[in-house]
Amino acid sequence: MELQEAIANRRSRKKFKRDMHIDDDALYQAIERATDAPNHKMREPWRVVHISKDRLGQMSKDIGQYAFKGDDDKKKDHYDNVTNLGGMLALIVQKDPRQKQNLENYMAFGAFAQNLMLLLHEAGIGTCWKSPQYIFMPEVRDTLGVKDSEDLVGFLYLTDMEDRVSHRKRRMKNLITEY
Ligand SMILES: Cc1cc2nc3c(=O)[nH]c(=O)nc-3n(C[C@H](O)[C@H](O)[C@H](O)COP(=O)(O)O)c2cc1C
Repeated sequence: MELQEAIANRRSRKKFKRDMHIDDDALYQAIERATDAPNHKMREPWRVVHISKDRLGQMSKDIGQYAFKGDDDKKKDHYDNVTNLGGMLALIVQKDPRQKQNLENYMAFGAFAQNLMLLLHEAGIGTCWKSPQYIFMPEVRDTLGVKDSEDLVGFLYLTDMEDRVSHRKRRMKNLITEY
């Protein structure tokens, strides 16, 4: 697949009403290949926790008790949505106490994440990066095994690519100015 084609056609998939399945071997291969992302001093400041299809329901119950405390409708909605997915990745960045290195780590993570989404697109696996407020909850972090030296920067929802998705057009306002 052409790089330009993958960049142009990778789109966030936000509907999870059907039961979806993905190829976990292709997923693991894409994760390894995505690590060719640039990262300063080769800190490789990324890791993921794979929640496979058969573990999605348990994970939803485990984090739902904190994330949606007292709101049974939201718990059910999350459970129904995520159990339809083909799997999920918890996205984890290595923090650094030094300001510059911390910024570099976060930006390297973004490069890794885009590599990963493009490679998954090429492998026929759809994605949506989700960053709900509850990624900051200590109980949710603990449930996923996120260490004090790390941040949970979201979840990558993994789907098939059967549904059509529209292209969200970019405004490209003030994109380039002349020096
Ligand atoms: C860091 C990051 C966090 C995001 N968080 C969410 C989210 O919480 N919920 C959601 O529906 N989409 C989320 N998205 C997806 C964006 O909404 C999506 O990329 C944007 O609408 C552009 O659409 P496209 O990815 O199809 O080009 C996130 C994307 C990024 C890069």
